[in-house]
Amino acid sequence: MPIPPAFLDELTARCPIEEVVADYVSLSPKGGNLWGLCPFHSEKTPSFSVSPEKHIFHCFGCGKGGGVIRFVMEMESLTFPEAVRKLAARAGLEMPEEDREAQARSAHRRRLLELNRAAARFYYETLKSPLGAPMLRYAQEKRRLTPTFIKRFGLGAAPEGWDHLLRAMTAQGYDKGELLEAGLVVAGKNGSFYDKFRNRLMLPVIDAAGNILGFTSRVMDDSAPKYLNTPETVLFKKRSILYGINFAKLTKRGFLLLVEGNLDVITLHQAGVDNAVATMGTALTAEHARLMGRYAKQLVLCYDNDAAGVDATDRAMAVLRDTDFSVRVLQLPRRRTETGELVKQDPDDFIKYQGPAAFERLLSGSEDQTAYKLETVAAGHDVATDEGRVAFLREVVPVLADLASPVEREIYAARAAQRVDVSKDALLREVEEHRRRQSRQSRRKEERAALTPAARAQPQARELRYDDPRSARAEEGVLQLLFLDHTLLPLCGDLRPEDFSSPLLGKIYGLLLAHDPPFSPAVLDGELTEAEAGHLARLLQAPVSLAAGRRAMGDYLEIIRERRTGAQGAASGEAELLALQRKLKQKQKMEDAK
Ligand code: GTP
Ligand code: MN
Repeated sequence: MPIPPAFLDELTARCPIEEVVADYVSLSPKGGNLWGLCPFHSEKTPSFSVSPEKHIFHCFGCGKGGGVIRFVMEMESLTFPEAVRKLAARAGLEMPEEDREAQARSAHRRRLLELNRAAARFYYETLKSPLGAPMLRYAQEKRRLTPTFIKRFGLGAAPEGWDHLLRAMTAQGYDKGELLEAGLVVAGKNGSFYDKFRNRLMLPVIDAAGNILGFTSRVMDDSAPKYLNTPETVLFKKRSILYGINFAKLTKRGFLLLVEGNLDVITLHQAGVDNAVATMGTALTAEHARLMGRYAKQLVLCYDNDAAGVDATDRAMAVLRDTDFSVRVLQLPRRRTETGELVKQDPDDFIKYQGPAAFERLLSGSEDQTAYKLETVAAGHDVATDEGRVAFLREVVPVLADLASPVEREIYAARAAQRVDVSKDALLREVEEHRRRQSRQSRRKEERAALTPAARAQPQARELRYDDPRSARAEEGVLQLLFLDHTLLPLCGDLRPEDFSSPLLGKIYGLLLAHDPPFSPAVLDGELTEAEAGHLARLLQAPVSLAAGRRAMGDYLEIIRERRTGAQGAASGEAELLALQRKLKQKQKMEDAK
């Protein structure tokens, strides 16, 4: 059910953007606006502005912007309804009534979530009690987890015994039916119940919004099963769960790292790799991919380096092929043991033996990444033939040219050259030529951009580019004035969203028509994409003189109408041209047939 606009108005009125932003960013006033360091990209001088008057935020550096709801969406990686719920809680506002059935469903869900939270608290307290000593020792000594990360990931202990949790939870008012439904207890014979998790290290499984959906748990010795999960419940649905997403969504690395093990995730975060996630020991699904897509467009897969891991990588790649993720595979090298044997390593092992810095080196695309890329390129060509060798080299040149270090370029050029039996120097010359061409191109692009200030006024995202800058400028002016003073709306007369040359500006105008004035940017946060909201915020933050408003509005409308008539003319002219072309073709065919 959509959230009623009246509620959003009330909500945004009760959540002034400058107060909400100040919860996250320290702001200082300058020239009517508030300024701070942008929380969405790294910077040393503030280019992030908040306008309390216009109810918007906008970063001049990265282009992000929007109303107060968009800010919370971006900051906490939440969907629009999730951000609304969060702000409502902050303002002490009751969410509007949903229908009865949905209400009952969500009340039931909330009750189970509450139970899971109570259970997690019980396990966490137990870990610190004498009953939890074996689990704490396992976590700290065997897994080398620090108290900080044990706490951050909410680890706990399910003590030895049959009913510790059962008794604690019933004492808190939860009944056995609820415990059963949450998968925390199991029904035994003759109507008795006992704890599902016993004598295990407990890992709460938390979703992106911070809800505890269930648990996974590990034995502390070699007994089976090694891992035991909450069974499928109304909350715990493995095909869409990503362990660690509640932290990984906040990463600034710009990509997610997908690994196999839950404990690997914790070890990685502890080593500073704050973007690691894992599925619950199951294959990657399209739902997992969609969920990750909310937070990143790039993905690094780091599955085990054994037959099962390679198989899992292949299957994950098949799922990811249908998405717009750019995917990289990170293969951890095998490790040579003291007895000289080569064994596979998972991220946990790798960090233990090679250290976090070595992992970072692998991750940042260094040695083995390049080797891996060269391997993949080679596998795609038959280097026994001359054509194959030429094709291989053609593909290898840009890979090598991408390497920043000349030493690296030399090493890998030698390797690639040897493979197809050409001279290293010849290959290196090609690579350097490629680099020169590339830097010339990028320099020219920069120069062009600097010479055309109009280009800078264009929306940043390519799909939002203006076809008709003159009309678009007028359309922007109309929107700026309407946001500033909605009583100007009647001046627009019969202007329709379709009359706009820019689909985005037309869309915003349409949204305004559908909404009761005054127009608050936050109300549009749910209807615009991130890029669209950023563009609108950029427009709105620009100073606009209301004094000249009425006259300017008239000029803007005239320009837009001019273009509309012109566009229709052009369209009919085009149609004529097409008809003529068709005729000519027809004629040609007839001649050919003769
Ligand atoms: P450690 O031995 O604790 O380091 O485990 P790992 O994470 O290195 O192990 P492994 O490769 O064996 O398992 C990877 C993931 O598969 C685990 O995190 C679990 O999610 C899942 N898994 C492994 N063993 C079991 C099991 O016995 N039962 C279930 N349900 N899942 C398992
Ligand atoms: Mn492991």
